[in-house]
Amino acid sequence: MVREQKQTSPVRALPRASVLDTARVIGRVGIPLLQRGVIVRRPSQTRLMERVDADRHAVALLQELRQKYGAGPLRLRMPGRRMVLVLSPDHVQRILDETPEPFHTATREKRAALAHFEPAGVLISSTEDRPERRRFNESALDTDHAIHRGADAMIGAINDEVDRLLADRDVLTWPDYSRHWMRMVRRIVFGEQTADDEQLTDDMLALRSAANWAFLHPTRRRVRERMLAGIDHHLSNPEPGSLAEYAARAPQTPTTFPEHQVPQWLFAFDAASWASWRALALLGSHERQAGDALRSLEGLDLRQPHPLHVMRACVLESLRLWPTTPAILRETTRRVRFEGGPVPEDTALLIYAPLFHRDDENLDAAHRFEPEMWEDERAAMEWPLVPFSAGPAVCPARNLVLHVTSTVISRIFSERRPTLLDDRLDPSEPLPGTLDPFSLRFALTDH
Ligand code: HEM
Repeated sequence: MVREQKQTSPVRALPRASVLDTARVIGRVGIPLLQRGVIVRRPSQTRLMERVDADRHAVALLQELRQKYGAGPLRLRMPGRRMVLVLSPDHVQRILDETPEPFHTATREKRAALAHFEPAGVLISSTEDRPERRRFNESALDTDHAIHRGADAMIGAINDEVDRLLADRDVLTWPDYSRHWMRMVRRIVFGEQTADDEQLTDDMLALRSAANWAFLHPTRRRVRERMLAGIDHHLSNPEPGSLAEYAARAPQTPTTFPEHQVPQWLFAFDAASWASWRALALLGSHERQAGDALRSLEGLDLRQPHPLHVMRACVLESLRLWPTTPAILRETTRRVRFEGGPVPEDTALLIYAPLFHRDDENLDAAHRFEPEMWEDERAAMEWPLVPFSAGPAVCPARNLVLHVTSTVISRIFSERRPTLLDDRLDPSEPLPGTLDPFSLRFALTDH
């Protein structure tokens, strides 16, 4: 899968990008990330980013800088912030493995954004508070199991919403998918009582829109208090089978603040909706892979939980090709030595996942839809293909998300045949670096 790595000779000091190259990184990597919205996507900007194929240009620039400056990490000349770009697979692994010390998840930028809706969330917690909050998340989300112990109830909600989605429809569009998706998520997280509680989703959206502006937007304290109180209420009266029930049973101390952990779940289920929708687009445009996927479902009763390896790999491919967390950020808690030189304390490290996921200098199938790439998930993560990050702060819902998304697309796919209604994903061409999910449409026909 991975071509042999070029050997780079060791350098003595951390390479520094020129002012011009730093400006190019800001223009081609930083601004497009901010423009499309880090916490909630702006559909018009996402569309624009697809039109200019923003991620392809970003990857090409980083490949060029890697050639020019070596394996890095590459120090940028940013005003007011020490920042380095991570360019080598080995460095990605080291940084993710050595989280949270000395590479912390709670960077200044993340704290500014996420504090708008989850100031005590695990991702932005201090080294002292992080372990118990992580434990809480892992227990409620059943991190280590491919199928969550509450999957039976989830499958009920999934099937019900997919049935409603497909009823009397010959064309599938994003607004329909998204509406049923949000309903399904509320049912999975809190149970039937919140299926129609759109206030919760609306409050989240308002807070996330503010979070897109991080430091620049004042905190909407009243909305935040209302949302956290609503979540607290649901967690105190958990419905059997919901994630809230597993949260209620998870280990807690007075500083766990479960109501601050759950907003991350609601927020991150959005990413799962884009990932599954784009996976559907891949299957709706690639005959061979669609045939393999359909065959993998033969004889399965999808009203029961199954591991669905082939569909899982299709969702992972969707996330490799178009990662929903393209920028993984860490911050050094002390001075750290790399072969290239020392990275000072309080430096932000940017891992731009598409550089590794779409690195056509090292990956033969960089721009093709190749679910086989995920036959050995552990090896794929080591390359590194890191849509869910890796190491001690890996997404604790990785398995849960992959199970829910693969079940949703399996159900859709087994009922009807979705065909993508445009030629954006032509299998004979390299796949685009950026794909706007909101404008995808499908024709639904019988198999
Ligand atoms: C396709 C869907 C998803 C993707 C691609 C994804 C990816 C990620 C990534 C890359 C991180 C690490 C972020 C960082 O280090 O800055 C992360 C963290 C996290 N994710 Fe997910 N996620 C998804 C869905 C979910 C869902 C649905 C939940 C909960 C139900 C969830 C819960 C979390 C939590 C709690 C963290 C923080 C972990 C920590 O700091 O220890 N994620 N996720």
